[in-house]
Amino acid sequence: MTNDQIQENDVTTGATVWLTGLPSAGKTTIAYELAGRLRAEGRRVEVLDGDEIREFISAGLGFSREDRHTNVQRIGFVAELLARNGVTALVPVIAPYADSRAAVRRRHQENDTAYVEVHVATPVEVCSVRDVKGLYAKQAAGELTGLTGVDDPYEEPRTPDLRIESQDQTVQESAASVYALLSERGLA
Ligand SMILES: Nc1ncnc2c1ncn2[C@@H]1O[C@H](COP(=O)(O)OP(=O)(O)O)[C@@H](O)[C@H]1O
Ligand SMILES: [Mg+2]
Repeated sequence: MTNDQIQENDVTTGATVWLTGLPSAGKTTIAYELAGRLRAEGRRVEVLDGDEIREFISAGLGFSREDRHTNVQRIGFVAELLARNGVTALVPVIAPYADSRAAVRRRHQENDTAYVEVHVATPVEVCSVRDVKGLYAKQAAGELTGLTGVDDPYEEPRTPDLRIESQDQTVQESAASVYALLSERGLA
């Protein structure tokens, strides 16, 4: 093997793929579908799911604007560390505020780490019917307030790298569209 070949084999390009969108939009489902596909090809992948993170890294944080921002920055920090080291970090986390997302993108740019923002743009009408965790029903029943997209803000990404209309697609098609973008950019 020549030095050039060794060099090429050594450097695996990692990336952070942030899947932003409303609750029940399909972020987690697409992330795990994509993770399976990437792992099958020998890639190292981690899924940093919002709910799990909130149990550990962001334990104690609530759902105020400030806490949501802090949560997103912490996750962005970890994702960048992973991505910088050749891991594909899939991040299915709501991240409702544009400035929080922009700060995460900036951190990646400053470190020359690939960053892809995917807006899982399922309309709230579809999400509230899916209601995977029963949050929309609870909000409607007055048992919960501060639900993103209903009575808490969701600032839609204006220029995501990819927008997914999951209401018109299968899970496999949605995951394939993210895969295609990664492929195009030499990240898969
Ligand atoms: N194209 C699609 N992409 C992702 N999820 C889909 C799609 N079509 C239907 N679904 C369904 O929508 C639900 C999304 O739930 P989930 O992934 O937990 O959402 P989120 O993580 O955004 O809160 C799942 O039940 C999933 O099977
Ligand atoms: Mg989820």
